[in-house]
Amino acid sequence: TPRVFSGAQPSGNLHLGNYLGALRNWVRMQSEEFETIYCMVDLHAITVWQNPTELQHATRELCAGYIASGLNPEKSILFNQSQVPEHAQLAWIFNCVARMGWMQRMTQWKDKAGKNQQNASLGLFAYPALMAADILIYHATHVPVGEDQKQHLELTRDIAIKFNNDFGVDFFPVTEPVIEGAATRVMSLRDGSKKMSKSDPSDMSRINLTDDAEAIAKKIRKAKTDPDALPSEAEGLEDRPEARNLVNIYAALNDQTIEQVLSEVGGKQFGEFKPMLADLAVAKLAPISTEMSRLMGDQAEIDRILARGAERAREIAAPILQKTYEIVGMVGAA
Ligand code: TYM
Repeated sequence: TPRVFSGAQPSGNLHLGNYLGALRNWVRMQSEEFETIYCMVDLHAITVWQNPTELQHATRELCAGYIASGLNPEKSILFNQSQVPEHAQLAWIFNCVARMGWMQRMTQWKDKAGKNQQNASLGLFAYPALMAADILIYHATHVPVGEDQKQHLELTRDIAIKFNNDFGVDFFPVTEPVIEGAATRVMSLRDGSKKMSKSDPSDMSRINLTDDAEAIAKKIRKAKTDPDALPSEAEGLEDRPEARNLVNIYAALNDQTIEQVLSEVGGKQFGEFKPMLADLAVAKLAPISTEMSRLMGDQAEIDRILARGAERAREIAAPILQKTYEIVGMVGAA
């Protein structure tokens, strides 16, 4: 069976972009058709400094968010990255396969390191090699992510191909990015040219999965828009990033196409559309937030789920790491 891998960072809150761009698709892929493995990537989170107590809390809360969104720890392997040491071990090998120039081209590196690259952590630079290791340590074939991870997945393919070439093997598979749905790139509610992000300093820019109904409604009411009515055709959204974003969100939450939504709301003013969107968002998201807080009430249970997930993940990862060591020529590996 084809194997699915994906993950999210426990750095701040899960938001609507994570949910629509990634988590919802993870839940859909949790089926007879695929073996599904979903990770909380704490080793990636620490590429920028995290308060240790907050990191622990965010990791457990992320696990609660996965489950509340519909991932089932019986059907999927849910685990925390640092609890499966094979990720870091394979990442080292990939650090020796990947080239500096490949890493330098990554737009996320350029964005996150900013002007002062000399002062960014080495881990932030090597981030994509660890991500390739996450995927390839399971020989995963399908990786459901939002649009912003596309370049990293191309690099994962490059690493797999170069490793296979360097050692004359056909060992690591070439992975398929799965970037699907109406909302593969949810934008900030305050600025239609920026993606919705955990790290945006303004909490009004995003809807968190932990927001209550009141907070969701307020953020949508205050979302930036333009003064025009909604168009009845998709072309009418072209130069209106904020309007397009809200329509996209509506379509994704309601499992409709943009065209279907516009055929219903075309001609309406935002004063009328925003309350519709707020009601829909509350109806879809409030149950997730309620379930998350319920799950967070029993942290021992979350820790048990993560421990069990790590055990199952290692059963797959350990033999693949051994085989990799053998291919590379490490004494002691078979
Ligand atoms: P992270 O934690 O930033 O985001 C988790 C997932 O949410 C998607 N996403 C979005 N989708 C649509 N609109 C948005 N505004 C938006 N913001 C985030 C992301 O594309 C992602 O799918 N590097 C990854 C984590 C990772 C990973 C992996 C993913 C580590 N190893 C291996 C796949 C496979 C990250 O930082 O995601």
